[in-house]
Amino acid sequence: MNEAFVLDEELKNRLTALTNDYSTKLAALLPALNIIQDKFGFIPPEAEQQIAELLDIFPTQVREVTTFYSLFYNAPVGHHKIYVCYNLSCCIEGGGKLLHYLAKKLRVSVNETTRDGKFSLYRTPCTGACEKAPVIIVNGAYHYNVTPEYIDELLTKLG
Ligand code: FES
Repeated sequence: MNEAFVLDEELKNRLTALTNDYSTKLAALLPALNIIQDKFGFIPPEAEQQIAELLDIFPTQVREVTTFYSLFYNAPVGHHKIYVCYNLSCCIEGGGKLLHYLAKKLRVSVNETTRDGKFSLYRTPCTGACEKAPVIIVNGAYHYNVTPEYIDELLTKLG
């Protein structure tokens, strides 16, 4: 086990205390995972086993949740997370080209992180803002009617 990911006593106490706020220990899983991801930036696989023990659930139950929700990361990710909508409306308006443009600029493929750890690039299903396509989401903030020029400015700001 990687020592860096051993849950310390303070963290264990926080997770255990969570169970008092929910009717079942399983119900505390999502907030527990959020606490872990806030601390480490992702959910270390070693942490899944420890979380399962603390919540008295099966490790597979933890894995099911961490792999179902795309906003839980199972490996270190970039400081800035860029999601490009890749559904119909956005693709018609150039979302696919934006994705390739970003991949080329960042020198990564989808689901990869730049070598300097600054950016991770992802595709996302429809974000519900089709009328403002193409849409990207950067660190949780929506950006509408995005163009390559806009991306250039954005990357410079985030630099
Ligand atoms: S298809 Fe991109 S927001 Fe709906």
